[in-house]
Amino acid sequence: MPDQLTKLAYQTIQQGKGLFGLAHKEVSTRLMGLLAPGGAPKTVAVEPELLGRLRSSMDALTERDWQEAEQGIYPASLLFDAPWLDWAARYPLVWLDMPSTWARRNDRKVRDLPQDVEPEAYPDYYLQNFHHQTDGYLSDHSASLYDLQVEILFNGTADPMRRRVLAPLVRGLRAFQDRPAASIRVLDVATGTGRTLRQIRGALPKAQLVGLDLSSSYLRQANRWLSELPGELPQLVQGNGEDLPFADGSFQAVSCVFLLHELPGEARQNVLNEAFRVLEPGGVVVLADSVQLADSPQFSTAMENFRRVFHEPYYRDYISDDINTRLSMAGFEAITAESHFMSRVWAARKPGGSAP
Ligand SMILES: C[S@@+](CC[C@H](N)C(=O)[O-])C[C@H]1O[C@@H](n2cnc3c(N)ncnc32)[C@H](O)[C@@H]1O
Repeated sequence: MPDQLTKLAYQTIQQGKGLFGLAHKEVSTRLMGLLAPGGAPKTVAVEPELLGRLRSSMDALTERDWQEAEQGIYPASLLFDAPWLDWAARYPLVWLDMPSTWARRNDRKVRDLPQDVEPEAYPDYYLQNFHHQTDGYLSDHSASLYDLQVEILFNGTADPMRRRVLAPLVRGLRAFQDRPAASIRVLDVATGTGRTLRQIRGALPKAQLVGLDLSSSYLRQANRWLSELPGELPQLVQGNGEDLPFADGSFQAVSCVFLLHELPGEARQNVLNEAFRVLEPGGVVVLADSVQLADSPQFSTAMENFRRVFHEPYYRDYISDDINTRLSMAGFEAITAESHFMSRVWAARKPGGSAP
């Protein structure tokens, strides 16, 4: 049964990534306790019950990921899509980067950015070291470590969580199924290093893909990863999600993954308003971000610890925010939301068009 073997291989890899992520965090936290100027951050103790819940929720995510591949929403090969050799080569750099991260954390330096950054080119809220990351989002060094750091942070579930936008995207695009697949335009806002676009390319091999981000360094990295893929190269545009450089109604779908929690409330609303504007009537928006207190109170300790360990200045506000209301305020209808492990996924439609 090749399918069962493939599934077993996928589950085994996910478990391996999970163990690797946990081991990395255990060792680095201990080392931080010993060597970092201010010691390790004070976190809330994680009860064994919470660990059990997290584990079963992670297993449910793996199962869902497998099922949606089996249903043909995306090819099973996407489940194994990771630049293993590249990550192995970069892994030592993650460790080498740690002492400067610890020092910044200890000195509460959250605006320690490269000298050549022109502050007037970015919104003020962006000019910070999110996650205590060296150079914030504003250097090639940061962009070269980001994917691996996220992979470790989420114990190997970052792409499975990103892939949860694919089913609602594909469903939403059925409204345009009478058009040639190559005429469908999909915009990924805050595309970063392009991991979400890689997943979307798997599900929509012919669509025109556009990725937008404020960081030219992250877009350069995205260009590298996306150039490896067959088919049309996605277009990458430097810009602000709050003020999209695209015409009204010029996309049939907009996605946005792991951005909202890094924005102040007003900017969050602006991004949703802009997604609405650039969508054609009948078009679909799909958002994925952290779970929130209202939908996942059982994970409140994990949310609190995330905020304590990483510099995430807007996370506390985000986890109490009402995204459904924000989507309605932007003009969207048919709003749905579901949770998958540590991610919440919203889908909504711009009224009008011939959508069923
Ligand atoms: C946490 S990362 C998520 C990246 C990517 N979506 C992913 O799944 O890995 C946040 C990204 O949002 C970008 N970003 C932050 N504020 C932005 C804004 N106002 N407009 C466009 N991009 C923004 C950052 O440069 C960074 O690449």
